[in-house]
Amino acid sequence: PKAQPLTGKTIILTAGPTHEIIDPVRYIANRSSGKQGFALASALTEAGAAVTLITGPVSLETPMGVHRINVESARDMHEAVHAQLPADFAIFVAAVADWRTEESSTQKMKKEKGGIPTLKMAENPDILASVAHLKENRPEVVIGFAAETENVIEHGKKKRLRKGCEWIIANNVSHTDQIQKGVVDKDVMDKGVMGGNQNQVHIISDKDVISLPEATKKETAQMIVHEIIRHYA
Ligand code: C5P
Repeated sequence: PKAQPLTGKTIILTAGPTHEIIDPVRYIANRSSGKQGFALASALTEAGAAVTLITGPVSLETPMGVHRINVESARDMHEAVHAQLPADFAIFVAAVADWRTEESSTQKMKKEKGGIPTLKMAENPDILASVAHLKENRPEVVIGFAAETENVIEHGKKKRLRKGCEWIIANNVSHTDQIQKGVVDKDVMDKGVMGGNQNQVHIISDKDVISLPEATKKETAQMIVHEIIRHYA
């Protein structure tokens, strides 16, 4: 049997995008597939941890042994995370929408009414920062992710201080530029971090930066778990 150095540890992990509803048939979302978060939930469970995976809408199967809670919006995710505390570790992989519409319509907005709607936006709660700054029930280790398109490590270091977490795991998602420009061939999609299967991350702590090699999201998850065990198990 495999060694399970995280046995007895409880972990809350967020993954996927959030959907911010505009009306019953429309929402604002992002390109997150949930793959990196699900791979991490799986690797942590294999290492013996009891993982609660709080995920936005994704089309992925629940990894074996993982307790999954489905949510839709950032506010749902915020509430679910706080309801699951206390935990030993909290790891925030979700691509949470920064903004939602200030109001949502209970009926479908109709084009026939004429005019073009203006969406007034409101800011969503920062779930990671809210947990990292808890005075009571703060997990021993809080880890955030940062998707950056330039100056990845520099931005990651600043983000770690601002959010108040132990680690920021930063990655470069700049391939998505090409996707936005319309160069959406299979090759670019596979290489693109958001939705793709490959990743290359830097683990930023108060002491150092560990740059992991480019690998599949599954391998990246295993390397991250290895570092978590090395530092905290
Ligand atoms: O600020 P930014 O969105 O780049 O921060 C990324 C990190 O913060 C991720 O770990 C993400 O899951 C978390 N986050 C959050 N709630 C938000 C925004 C980001 O938990 N509203």
